Amino acid sequence: MAKLCSCGEMLVPTMFLDRCKIISLPKIADPRGNLTYVEGGEHIPFAIQRVYYLYDVPGGAERGGHAHKGLQQLIVAMSGSFDVVLDDGDKKQRFHLNRSYNGLYVCPMIWRELDNFSSGSVCMVLASNRYDEADYYRNYDDYLVAQGLK
Ligand code: TYD
Repeated sequence: MAKLCSCGEMLVPTMFLDRCKIISLPKIADPRGNLTYVEGGEHIPFAIQRVYYLYDVPGGAERGGHAHKGLQQLIVAMSGSFDVVLDDGDKKQRFHLNRSYNGLYVCPMIWRELDNFSSGSVCMVLASNRYDEADYYRNYDDYLVAQGLK
């Protein structure tokens, strides 16, 4: 099933992963400690409506395991490291996040899983919308059907 994005360009589901990428955020280096900032619509392609973070993640735990219908997100390793596996139903890509000045932009309709958390790591997510359970695909088969891949 082909999808139409807001720019009028036809997108097919297997193109979605290509829209996800690491964004380098501004970094003010300072011997007193570095500073990074994010402005919605400037450094990331959406206005920030919500911030949430994962912390105290036990060794071996996995988070995520869902996709969002409309939510855009930027995932940042504020401390420590973890992996994010993105899957558009056709291709998968694993990103290792370990720098607080890098964020992984995740567009809508991408299945994502987080694992390999280091001890004491903190995963911060900037999100384009407030929490809405109706925006989730929590079942992978349902997600594939919505992508037109099943
Ligand atoms: P969920 O998004 O399923 O996290 P994960 O995929 O990492 O396990 O969220 C876990 C629980 O937290 C779920 O019951 C919904 C709730 N939640 C909120 O209430 N608000 C939020 O902003 C988020 C992200 C989750």
